[in-house]
Amino acid sequence: MQLLAQPQLDAIVEVMGGIEPASTYISTALQAGRQVITANKQLVAAQGPPLACLGPLRFEASVASAIPIVETLADALGADRIGSIMGILNGTTNSMLAAMGGGASYADALADAQRRGLAEADPSADVDAHDPAAKLAILAMLAFRRRIDPSQIARVGIRDLGPGQMEDGRRRGFVIKLIAAAAIHDGARIEADIRPRLVPADAPMARVHGAMNAIAVDAEYAGSLIFEGPGAGPDAAASAVLADLIRAAKGVPASAGSLLATLADTSPVTVVPLGPTAPYPAAS
Ligand SMILES: NC(=O)c1ccc[n+]([C@@H]2O[C@H](COP(=O)([O-])OP(=O)(O)OC[C@H]3O[C@@H](n4cnc5c(N)ncnc54)[C@H](OP(=O)(O)O)[C@@H]3O)[C@@H](O)[C@H]2O)c1
Repeated sequence: MQLLAQPQLDAIVEVMGGIEPASTYISTALQAGRQVITANKQLVAAQGPPLACLGPLRFEASVASAIPIVETLADALGADRIGSIMGILNGTTNSMLAAMGGGASYADALADAQRRGLAEADPSADVDAHDPAAKLAILAMLAFRRRIDPSQIARVGIRDLGPGQMEDGRRRGFVIKLIAAAAIHDGARIEADIRPRLVPADAPMARVHGAMNAIAVDAEYAGSLIFEGPGAGPDAAASAVLADLIRAAKGVPASAGSLLATLADTSPVTVVPLGPTAPYPAAS
């Protein structure tokens, strides 16, 4: 709070994570006329629309770190109609699934991910898919211009998977991936869920390895776009945070924040799961 009170500051960068005190710090800074850059997916997913009403809020690093998807959806694709988004939004589980595909048990894959600093001591945010649900809520709000409550997105994590299912999928020509997907139908009905799915081995999503992330966007005019890159790690996150800071210094409009601000007075829409067959068959 002492830092926020300093009058010479133009911008504040928030990378502490969590809802509080980050929410209080960010709203205080925005109300004092500062620009705010945050990497906090949890906060943006839950409170992005009301916070963005208070001033320029930038959050490129909050989804898939170095993949420039946030401003792309709000700005570069601003003239388009996006029908669906789908992706691998959690590098930790993607790495664990790869280890399980090589024969490791869930417990061994988790222990290895924890040893390598990929998974937290409490792995729930990753393995129970809370982390990709927050990211998917942000992407879906930007893509469909509707307010989405991340807690309404159905989640099936990877705890119940084992090497047997991975091997069975492989024999049938599939790779099991934790897929986050959302679609809008007739401009109104929104489906979204996160669950392990059987991805054909020759599909681009099947070839997303390790801690990489990928996002496929289906737009009415631009067509099918695929973005892939490092979804986590200090360098990748810093790249996105500093790009936001440079945009703030240049006075580039905070397009994604402005879009979220337009949703602040609306209620979260009903979100139903995509179901077991699309975009790929459910794996569990
Ligand atoms: N790591 C990534 O690859 C990545 C990628 C994209 C986005 N993000 C987002 O970036 C944020 C931080 O993630 P992280 O992985 O860097 O977490 P982290 O390693 O836990 O770092 C958080 C830092 O914030 C500090 N902090 C926490 N609460 C604070 C408070 N109340 N006052 C002052 N400092 C406080 C912590 O200090 P102490 O250690 O002293 O507690 C720590 O230095 C999260 O929102 C995350 O979702 C991370």
